[in-house]
Amino acid sequence: MKMTVAVDGPAAAGKGTLSKALAAHFGFAHLDTGLLYRAVGAGVLAGGDPIKVAQTLEPAALDNPALRTQAVAEAASQIAVIAEVRQALVDFQRDFAARDGGAVLDGRDIGTVICPDATVKLFVTASAETRAERRYLELVNAGQTADRAAILQEVRARDDRDANRATAPLRPADDAVTLDTSDLTADQARARAIAIISERMPQG
Ligand code: DC
Repeated sequence: MKMTVAVDGPAAAGKGTLSKALAAHFGFAHLDTGLLYRAVGAGVLAGGDPIKVAQTLEPAALDNPALRTQAVAEAASQIAVIAEVRQALVDFQRDFAARDGGAVLDGRDIGTVICPDATVKLFVTASAETRAERRYLELVNAGQTADRAAILQEVRARDDRDANRATAPLRPADDAVTLDTSDLTADQARARAIAIISERMPQG
């Protein structure tokens, strides 16, 4: 049985944590598709051409903690507007989604573009303030210095770019279930998402 869960939403809404928990709960594979764009962004910061980097991307490049920096996130958001870059990454994502045993993919356009026939589509969101605060606490807890106002500004700028680009902008699919995590703990968000998915799983 092919079972695909699409998890889309803006930066720092809790998609990653939630998607990992869902994959573990249901025994599905998980792909954080942001890593593909981050890997291309990192390649561009290293002097590469975005389209060439995307076309020659190896899965091994995704396993790299250096992709988690703010500079790479920013570069990723910038190359993500390039239609040829997005196109070069489609097959890898669709192949992953079609694997036996089920898959959770999280990103911005999984339910709208990559897997329009996903079994379940979640749109995970939270207010910009909540998301900025979460990112701030993440950085502080990791022992880094962080500026609240600057983080909020970055979150808003990235939202704006992700939502307003011409190719595959961030928006909920018509048949997506929206999960606003502003007032939910990670555990509560997980429980809601599991309930939503279980209701929609094919029986038998
Ligand atoms: O989810 P993330 O923060 O790792 O994503 C980094 C950037 O990549 C994000 O600003 C937009 C882009 N992205 C995208 O355009 N489509 C996806 N499916 C995933 C990420």
